Amino acid sequence: MKDIPLNERIILALDVAEPEMAKEWVRKTEEKIHFYKVGLQLFMASYFDIIDWIIDRGHKVMVDLKFFDIPETVKLAMMQLQDKGVTFATVHGNDPIIRASLEAKQGSGSELKILGVTVLTSFGEEDMRAMGMSRTIEDLVYFRAKRALELGCDGIVSSGLEAARLRQGLGEKLLIVTPGIRPGANIEENDDDQTRIMTARKAIENGADYVVVGRPITKAANPLKVIDELQQEIALALKG
Ligand code: C5P
Repeated sequence: MKDIPLNERIILALDVAEPEMAKEWVRKTEEKIHFYKVGLQLFMASYFDIIDWIIDRGHKVMVDLKFFDIPETVKLAMMQLQDKGVTFATVHGNDPIIRASLEAKQGSGSELKILGVTVLTSFGEEDMRAMGMSRTIEDLVYFRAKRALELGCDGIVSSGLEAARLRQGLGEKLLIVTPGIRPGANIEENDDDQTRIMTARKAIENGADYVVVGRPITKAANPLKVIDELQQEIALALKG
């Protein structure tokens, strides 16, 4: 088991349109949460300003831009990130793309950890068929995670459904970061774009190190209460 503080286990997805809204969420939650995710929407609104602001307040940042391009472009993009104090960055691609993203860090002494995206948690089996893929999602996630680890990635992003197999097959060192978290009571009636969902407790029990949570917190009537409940679930899962 990795030594990760409870207040870093939830990575809060700051999926908002304006940096001021992101700052409000950080101020509102920072007594409980120390890890924030900046994705495409927020990054397009404020580039590195919001990332610097969050890091200057003493928190960790996951930059989730899921780089996917020709290898040289991905390498150059990752180089823009490697000296910014960012903790996790995501890359989405085949071996040459992942290798190029790792080259960006070489010799820099950067603390940045690179995570390979396996299969988006919004994807279901039908989406795979529609893209002409014949494998099951579980097999594809495992295959991609194994490659990412062999190539030198620090971790991967996958749903909690696949986390157990990854943890068993690929060992303790791999960082598993899991989005698609939904609170237990609502899990049957989830009607947003996420498909491969599960509770935080089950995800951690299955071997996830971190859970990425957005809307279950940001759309809640009482976000701090949801955070407390999620952290209690996570603490229970870690004990068990
Ligand atoms: O609101 P919700 O909890 O679904 O937010 C999940 C976040 O995790 C979103 O920002 C989404 O971009 C991100 N994500 C994901 N699936 C992945 C990788 C990232 O849902 N495979």
